[in-house]
Amino acid sequence: QISEAEVALFSVPSYACQRRTTRDNHNSNLTDALSLLAENAELNNEDGRGVAFRRAAALMKALPTQVISMSQLRGLPCLGEHSLRVIKDVLENGVSSEVESTKQSKRYKALKILTGIFGVGAKTADRWIREGIYNLEQLRDSGQTLNRAQKSGLEHYDDLNEPVTKAEADAIGEIVQKAVDSVLTGSQVALTGGFRRGKLTGHDVDFLITHPEEGKEVGLMPKVVAWLESQGFLLYQKTTRNSYLESKDGPARPASNMDRFERCFSIFKLTKGKEQESTQPEEQNDLKTKDVLRPHMQVDTDQQLCELSKNYQMEAASHKIWRAVRVDLVVSPISQFAFAVLGWTGSKLFERELRRWAGHEKNMSLSSHALFDNTQNKYLRATSEEEIFAYLGLEYIPPSERNA
Ligand code: CTP
Ligand code: MN
Ligand code: MN
Ligand code: MN
Repeated sequence: QISEAEVALFSVPSYACQRRTTRDNHNSNLTDALSLLAENAELNNEDGRGVAFRRAAALMKALPTQVISMSQLRGLPCLGEHSLRVIKDVLENGVSSEVESTKQSKRYKALKILTGIFGVGAKTADRWIREGIYNLEQLRDSGQTLNRAQKSGLEHYDDLNEPVTKAEADAIGEIVQKAVDSVLTGSQVALTGGFRRGKLTGHDVDFLITHPEEGKEVGLMPKVVAWLESQGFLLYQKTTRNSYLESKDGPARPASNMDRFERCFSIFKLTKGKEQESTQPEEQNDLKTKDVLRPHMQVDTDQQLCELSKNYQMEAASHKIWRAVRVDLVVSPISQFAFAVLGWTGSKLFERELRRWAGHEKNMSLSSHALFDNTQNKYLRATSEEEIFAYLGLEYIPPSERNA
């Protein structure tokens, strides 16, 4: 039994962008529970509830030690009645009954499986469930019309649901850099998203591309995509052109949270083992290649060739030599680069909180393009993330501490 006096009280600021949240989490039992309920709310299009659980989870993630008693939480922000009930349940019983019943529910399971298909969101999944479709087999049998993204998503389902490693992200980074160098000298590629925050795995890899000379980046994406396509690196891509309107004296006011950069949602074909290639000695690689190639070269008849090809296909299917990886590419002009890097580094909640802070506390509008001061009625220019935090009156938080 621990007396209240022995239990330290936490003091935590209420906006996630005022806090340093590393990957090191002392309350994963609580954050897992709250995150699952947030995810379930989002899957059911209950955005308000989703954000409330995300904020509660982020607050627990930021605590410096493990919570053992409800009394430690007194006075903390971001914890609503519902989140407190969930936390209490976990602290007292080891699990939350609401989380357990959600996990078991037929609807939650189906929503997870169906939205696990690239190109399928909560609305589509809900419609399919109402038509009696709960899994991939039923979806295939139903004869539903799938769009191009969903067809690709279904085809590469297992690969795309397997976490991407940092080594794979780096291998793709090298390919993207090569693509960019080939189409426009001097272009720069920056790794953003979760990997920039130091995460060890991700659901995709995010890159931001720019050029030090303003305007040179215009039309860059289609060229990069064409190069990648010509080299056989793309299994799927959808490019959206820049829809950001420049006014005479600067970029237009950010109208929504959605940015309007030239972007490409893609699926890369990544050769397996490529990320380890550089760590292997050259000779060893040579030997392996020769050993594999030699029998293939002694082909005398068509029948032998056919056999060989069949064997090769079976071999390739049993231990596939490549995998599909989701990659997001975004092109930004250099004048907006700092805002774009900040906006694409995440986490999603950290970004949402930055914008809420800007609006509610500073009367400013922040987007991935610009920062507008509504009081002074002018844009605040920045060439670094540090400057943007300073304009916002926030202590600078490095990427590795934005894991809210
Ligand atoms: N983002 C965005 N507009 C989108 C999609 C994403 O601005 N249409 C931003 C998000 O706000 C986030 C960043 O891009 O800051 C990365 O998003 P995402 O890849 O979804 O998440 P990660 O944090 O990288 O996590 P994961 O490892 O799961 O990919
Ligand atoms: Mn710690
Ligand atoms: Mn990502
Ligand atoms: Mn992404």
